[in-house]
Amino acid sequence: MEKQELVNQHLKLILQQFNQKHELIMAMDHSLMAGGKRLRPVLSMAAAQACKKNFLIALPASCAIEMIHTYSLIHDDLPAMDNDDLRRGLPTCHKKFCEATAILAGDALLTHAFNIISQPEQVFKIYPDVQTRIKLIAKISQAAGIKGMIQGQMLDMQSYQSQQRDSLTHLKKIHALKTGRMITASVEAGAVSVDADAETIKKLITYADKIGLAFQVVDDILNIEGDPEIMGKTVGSDALNDKMTFPAIIGLDESKKYAKKLIDDAIETISKFDETAIPLRAIANYIINRNH
Ligand code: IPE
Ligand code: IPE
Ligand code: MG
Ligand code: MG
Repeated sequence: MEKQELVNQHLKLILQQFNQKHELIMAMDHSLMAGGKRLRPVLSMAAAQACKKNFLIALPASCAIEMIHTYSLIHDDLPAMDNDDLRRGLPTCHKKFCEATAILAGDALLTHAFNIISQPEQVFKIYPDVQTRIKLIAKISQAAGIKGMIQGQMLDMQSYQSQQRDSLTHLKKIHALKTGRMITASVEAGAVSVDADAETIKKLITYADKIGLAFQVVDDILNIEGDPEIMGKTVGSDALNDKMTFPAIIGLDESKKYAKKLIDDAIETISKFDETAIPLRAIANYIINRNH
């Protein structure tokens, strides 16, 4: 089965553990099952595969990461943050339900993600041993937390009044934190799930750091040039919210060249990997060519 389909099926199973009629579960379902690209979980399993192991062992952590990512989108769209009305082709969670429910649906997705990693046997047939689960919780909570995505979101929120508005170094830091850390954690989680060796993990982290930054640079470009119908989210909001973005600092053409360079470097990093890394190479190319 396709990795994306495996993720969708298991995310559904996770929600089916709860009463489907509850407003909270309905709100979680609305955002989680709305059809995201599932980039992070697919990446996680592709990393496990590149370590020449059964990538199904990475499925519990992969689903947990997608739950955390979805929570971050629900909160990111709130009126107090980016104030967006459209996400994954549907009304944002707070538009469909209400702000309080959207906040709680995000909280619930975040919290339950760690329950899934610690007690995977509720839903999954194959899963890592207890020691590995603790490592996964440590890695993922760090990437999503105070020195990771949340700090990145904080800097992003403050960027309209930042003293460093023209600083490319500062912008790279924001992007690496708000988007890059979770993408790198996805790759690491795949490798850690299958108990990969330190040397392989190091290479995979370098690959992931580069595609993670490229992913957000492309997100900035699509926020200007993308088709909202295809993207399923609002276009033009970065400029409206006076956000620091790559196109705003170095221009659209330079941003495109920079994203391409990062992707080329990422593919070069894993050039010594054999055919088990074909999915990782394909994901890198997809990131630069994506239209949503
Ligand atoms: C959107 O992430 C938010 C960013 C970090 C740029 P995705 O583009 O992966 O969104 P979905 O999961 O496909 O909806
Ligand atoms: C979202 O970044 C990053 C996180 C949710 C952590 P953006 O605000 O730039 O992404 P979109 O454009 O709303 O998806
Ligand atoms: Mg944002
Ligand atoms: Mg946003």
